[in-house]
Amino acid sequence: MENFTFCSPTEFVFGRDTEKEVGQLCCKHGASRVLIIYGGGSVVRSGLLQRVEQSLTTAGLSYETLGGVKPNPEDGLVREGIRKIQNMSASAPVFLLAVGGGSVIDTAKAIACGACYDGDFWDFYIGKAKIQRALPVGVVLTIPAAGSEGSGNSVITNTATGQKISLRSPEHLRPVFSIMNPELTYTLPPYQTASGICDMMVHIFERYFTNTPETNITDHLAEGVLRSIIEQAPLVMQHPQDYGARANIMWAGMLAHNGLCGTGHVEDWASHFMEHELSALYGVTHGAGLAVVFPAWLTVVSRSNPKKAVQLAVRVFDVPYEGRHEQEIIAEGIARLRHFWTSLGLPSNMRELGITDPDIDLLVHNLHETKGEPIGNYVRLDRILTREIYDHTR
Ligand code: NZQ
Ligand code: ZN
Repeated sequence: MENFTFCSPTEFVFGRDTEKEVGQLCCKHGASRVLIIYGGGSVVRSGLLQRVEQSLTTAGLSYETLGGVKPNPEDGLVREGIRKIQNMSASAPVFLLAVGGGSVIDTAKAIACGACYDGDFWDFYIGKAKIQRALPVGVVLTIPAAGSEGSGNSVITNTATGQKISLRSPEHLRPVFSIMNPELTYTLPPYQTASGICDMMVHIFERYFTNTPETNITDHLAEGVLRSIIEQAPLVMQHPQDYGARANIMWAGMLAHNGLCGTGHVEDWASHFMEHELSALYGVTHGAGLAVVFPAWLTVVSRSNPKKAVQLAVRVFDVPYEGRHEQEIIAEGIARLRHFWTSLGLPSNMRELGITDPDIDLLVHNLHETKGEPIGNYVRLDRILTREIYDHTR
């Protein structure tokens, strides 16, 4: 196991009606003026935004709102948010409250660091500057998926350059609190529920596929969370208002990405980098893109590095192994994973994702322009291998 520091200071407030505590929680974490960030309208239609506003008012907090965050959130709204904060009275620092999913939370995080910086916030994403300070961010989560409610990351798309980049700065970007009420996820469209389930599983895979030795504890943690997701996912798809199943999936999404399942590992992340190029170019839903990219990645890398793919197949997908060749076990593991995702209604290739004629040259070019070469760690991927993986997704 590698040396590591694990610090996850977010206060998680989980369960029914917990959104009513948002005003008190903002006060507890030092807020006096709040900027609420939200998305395309689901929180308005569900009445959640109104309940959040009521709670802030009851707690004596003043607030403004900034709606309109799109899935695969863009730089334009981040800049608008930063301007808005500069125009809010300078008497006390602004507290950012994200009410929504990963796109809303990531926009709030980008505004939080951008508002404390003289240059352009995008400098942080391209590695031109390091965050020194950020405004606090609180979260009311409405979709278990990206794990941004517990992560120190923010993923933003720059529409001018076409880049979608993940910024990692756990000491500045982890939310100070996250309210997680499983009932808020009842209104999710099935495709978003399924995409979220895929995303959280791949967050675990990115950490599980490592060459670091002596990772017994994290391997078993990861396998346990994965097995739970596989058990609970069909229940939430069949019964969207099953509180217990929604609760288990919601907590799994946090555990998958707050770093616990990767402690002491060299992590991989090549599948995420490859999917981010897909969602930057074609605007696909991130988790659905991963359902296409990840099995292709696993097929290619497990040829030269089979160890963890065999372990996953046997321990998580119950593939029989006695007397069988390891490549046979891996192939069956990948088939079971694909079958599980398609049973949730997820795509298994580019065509099903809505991309009939993928521009593989451009995807490979953009990927290595942004991420360099090679990418990933479980198997180091050069352009030849990333092209082969994209080719496998057709
Ligand atoms: O915009 P509204 O109207 O709210 O609708 C959203 C959106 O259309 C809808 N939705 C959310 N909660 C709902 C709901 N609809 C009905 N009822 C509810 N309760 O769902 C759609 C998707 O929302 P979004 O926030 O985009 O989903 P998600 O949480 O999957 O976030 C995806 C983004 O997060 C990034 C992805 O790349 C993508 O940009 N990621 C962020 C990470 C991080 N910060 O740590 C890690 C991930 O790997 C990921 O890359
Ligand atoms: Zn993800």
